[in-house]
Amino acid sequence: MLSGRVSRLKPSATLTITARAKELRSKGVDVIGFGAGEPDFDTPDFVKEACIKALRDGKTKYAPSAGIPELREAIAEKLLKENGVEYRPSEIVVSSGSKMILFLILTAILNEGEEVLIPSPYWVTYPEQVNVLGGVPVEVPLKEEEGFVLTADRIRDRITDRTKALILNSPNNPTGAVYPEEELRKIAEICVENGIFIISDECYEKMVYEGSFVSVASLSEEVKDITFTVNSFSKTFSMTGWRLGYVACPEKYAKVIASLNSQTVSNATTFAQYGALEALKNPEGEKFVRRMVSEFRKRRDKAFELLSSIPNVSVVKPEGAFYIFPNFSFYSKETGGDIRLAEILLEEGKVACVPGSAFGAEGYMRISYALSIDRVEEGINRIRTTLERLS
Ligand SMILES: Cc1ncc(COP(=O)(O)O)c(C=O)c1O
Repeated sequence: MLSGRVSRLKPSATLTITARAKELRSKGVDVIGFGAGEPDFDTPDFVKEACIKALRDGKTKYAPSAGIPELREAIAEKLLKENGVEYRPSEIVVSSGSKMILFLILTAILNEGEEVLIPSPYWVTYPEQVNVLGGVPVEVPLKEEEGFVLTADRIRDRITDRTKALILNSPNNPTGAVYPEEELRKIAEICVENGIFIISDECYEKMVYEGSFVSVASLSEEVKDITFTVNSFSKTFSMTGWRLGYVACPEKYAKVIASLNSQTVSNATTFAQYGALEALKNPEGEKFVRRMVSEFRKRRDKAFELLSSIPNVSVVKPEGAFYIFPNFSFYSKETGGDIRLAEILLEEGKVACVPGSAFGAEGYMRISYALSIDRVEEGINRIRTTLERLS
């Protein structure tokens, strides 16, 4: 008999659709994959070389559970230089991806029945992790008309005496929303007043096309004291398979998270950490990111232009990340829901998208534009044709 906790676990919708698309492709069908949650760029060579060198140098054994000291130091430097937040290396823990980091943070802070505020649409993993750990995910619904931006008012009426944490994700997956600094300030103030932890998932920080990115912990010392700043090498340096993410937070929490890490993964893969170190240290890293982001911007513009012109579809222009989240509810009502609509888009249009219901937003579709601009154009034209045929 399995535990009650895992019985609530839902399989990842993103992976399900990607698997079906792969199956069709293996049969020779030309499927356009809008499902991917990773950049289509290769990890830069200089990063790979640093990892290969580490392997050759014998960096093949266990490492400190919080991460190799050089990497924690480089992360602290990065946080100060790029985000304006001062952390000591002892306040940083590296683990196998930011997904694992989030799980460790939630394990460290959540008691049975405690609530975690999750702005919705949300990244699929947040409520699943909270559920598995015996917490209660509390959705904070966001509005398309407000650009899917979280406002202080929206969280105020969701707070109870069991509220333990708020998960922020700006730039956002799946909406691409970037929260303005003034709103973040108000939100953070409420969390400080009510003693609510902020878990700030900043893994898309570099992919910002409008406005500017603000790291929540940089707002004030009081905010920093209640914030877990989470980041990843996955998206910034196109290193999804390397499995490297980190958290920066007050040392008393970092110590617990490092202990949890030591009792679960032991340490993030030792030689991989040397690749990440090079990504942060080598000036080529910044150039790589700039090139990638400028490419994403062109695709975003194209995707927005094409989706906006489809009849009966509304779409918010994403300001960050590499997703766009059109409202297809006019069509999904006809098909009996967005899951069925995604199936039709895949089977008939040969386009793989992830249905909005996976992100708590029925009627929407997440389109990842992590593929060439020609494929973006072709894919959205296929969507248009399939939708037009439907109506
Ligand atoms: C919002 C968000 N956070 C975290 C992650 C996890 O990234 P990783 O575990 O590769 O660091 C993802 C990946 O898709 C994401 O979209």
